[in-house]
Amino acid sequence: MSQNNRPPFVVAHRGASAARPEHTLAAYELALQEGADGVECDVRLTRDGHLVCVHDRTVDRTADATGLVSELTLDELRDMNFGTDEAPQGVLALSDLIGLVLDWRTRPTKLFIETKHPVRYGALVENKVLAELQRFGIATPASADHSRAVVMSFAATAVWRIRRAAPLLPTVLLGESSRFLGGGAATTVGATAVGPSVKTLREHPELVDKAAAAGRATYCWTVDDPEDVTLCADLGVSWVATNHPGRTKALLAGV
Ligand code: G3P
Ligand code: CA
Repeated sequence: MSQNNRPPFVVAHRGASAARPEHTLAAYELALQEGADGVECDVRLTRDGHLVCVHDRTVDRTADATGLVSELTLDELRDMNFGTDEAPQGVLALSDLIGLVLDWRTRPTKLFIETKHPVRYGALVENKVLAELQRFGIATPASADHSRAVVMSFAATAVWRIRRAAPLLPTVLLGESSRFLGGGAATTVGATAVGPSVKTLREHPELVDKAAAAGRATYCWTVDDPEDVTLCADLGVSWVATNHPGRTKALLAGV
């Protein structure tokens, strides 16, 4: 059980991606149906300046086509199949996912957006993420609803940019090095949470208390093994990102 006397919240990593193709509408709908408290997505910029939910630089692994996301247009990506032969699905734009999460009225679900390739485009990706959130009324300075979205990155620069542009928006500094996450980087960029991999957390469980002492939450990824779910609950991790949201919710209900 966590120090907060509550089990970790469950974030569906790329949607319910163990059961449905990752980053598809079907994966996110299943995650919401299974009771996920949040959903995670990676975002990349298309050639014509749209943010789409794709993890890799190319579509080769996840679609029925090849090519760099950055060299394809949104329309071209919409025409590809990121789903299955039985249930084909075009690429999911970030705006589609925000709309789905905000429309999920049974409970407020949090959206964890991870920006990729922070160096290539300077601040463009982070600015576009903020513009999309603002368009939906999430990250506007006047909004009382900042907690519906969290922006994350492995790049301290990207977290710092978000913090500077939208000081109230929660952020996660992701990392695999305990020295990086336990050091001063999160303080320097003003991250509201640190995000170790589950392997890092197994080796350095003290990271959770260290973050808490600095007023920071811990977001751990990717927590699929039931033993790791229990470990995160025992350590007081705030958020666990998993490819199995339903199973993880059920497990934590018994913790
Ligand atoms: O949720 C953070 C986690 O997704 C980071 O790793 O490679 O799956 O984006 P990756
Ligand atoms: Ca990710």
